[in-house]
Amino acid sequence: MAPSGPVAVLLTGVGKRYDIVAAFAQHATVVAADPNPLAPAQYAAHHRYAVPRIDDPAYVPALAELCERYGVGAVVPLTDLDIEVLAVARAAGKLPALVPDPEIARATFDKYEAHLLLTGLGLPSPATVLPGEQVEGYPVMVKPRRGSGARSIHRADDARAAEFFVDYVHEPTMIQRMMDGPELSIDCLSDLEGRCLNAIPRTMIESRGGESIKGTVVNDAELVALGRRVVQALGVRGACTVQVFRDREVGLRITDVNARFGGAFPAPMYAALPGRTYPELIVRMARGERVEPHVGDFRAGISFSRYFWQLELDEQMRPTGRDIIQPPGPPPPR
Ligand SMILES: Nc1ncnc2c1ncn2[C@@H]1O[C@H](COP(=O)(O)OP(=O)(O)O)[C@@H](O)[C@H]1O
Ligand SMILES: [Mg+2]
Repeated sequence: MAPSGPVAVLLTGVGKRYDIVAAFAQHATVVAADPNPLAPAQYAAHHRYAVPRIDDPAYVPALAELCERYGVGAVVPLTDLDIEVLAVARAAGKLPALVPDPEIARATFDKYEAHLLLTGLGLPSPATVLPGEQVEGYPVMVKPRRGSGARSIHRADDARAAEFFVDYVHEPTMIQRMMDGPELSIDCLSDLEGRCLNAIPRTMIESRGGESIKGTVVNDAELVALGRRVVQALGVRGACTVQVFRDREVGLRITDVNARFGGAFPAPMYAALPGRTYPELIVRMARGERVEPHVGDFRAGISFSRYFWQLELDEQMRPTGRDIIQPPGPPPPR
């Protein structure tokens, strides 16, 4: 029998991702960790801690202490920044982190390494070179190797423009064929052995600052199969979002792999069948339960449209529980 008692989940780098923290808090005790004491999403957790910064040697010991104190069964990162640190700590047996092995964490944080890794595994990635290397053709996108949130990405229509942007972006870059066609994302979840449990594709109608704010869940067998192939080839654990373009000429190409919850948390939440939302499945795995794969079981056709919300905090920065309307949400019928 799998253990079924209470379990806690530690979410790191919670930032503004209030929806994710709130969803976990419905199924487990949630501890939120963020170096920023004003991170809004921490207020959706049962316990909140301003931990040392990720590059501080005290970071992992601080998380380990929280795991010990609250009986944490899974540490789940919500940003790219600490996935590798958590992966190293996991490999050393220091944290029950739901992250890939360190070399996969490192490679998926560096888009050029990710390109080499994917092509080495026979997975489709757009033609990509480093500055100074021969480009197949134009237009190209000049992208930071370790970018996120669509920061500092520039289209270049010829060699002169590409050279300019490589120089202009003050960090290591790479030069990638510009994809022409719709951009889609596949929100995947894997178990502790790297088996894909589900893969839910969606369109990316509108994005802002790395968050997808409008999209539709689609029933697309080719994308479901690709999502599963990618996460199983990489041995990902936990949530992973695979971004692709369906290029008019070359077909599906993978442009970004994020070994964490993607920029559109509501999509796989709405699409999941009852009892199978990703937070619920992660809580079950944190309890030591085995979850059977159910790849392709979800409801397609549902769209989401996101907006901002906020919390009122008192003079001591404690949430007052008051809101600008009560209760939040659409008006009651008249
Ligand atoms: N090769 C490409 N062709 C066309 N657009 C691209 C390409 N690569 C990235 N983009 C655009 O830039 C956005 C951010 O790029 P991405 O590779 O996802 O990096 P990140 O999300 O980590 O900043 C994408 O969502 C896409 O709209
Ligand atoms: Mg991206």
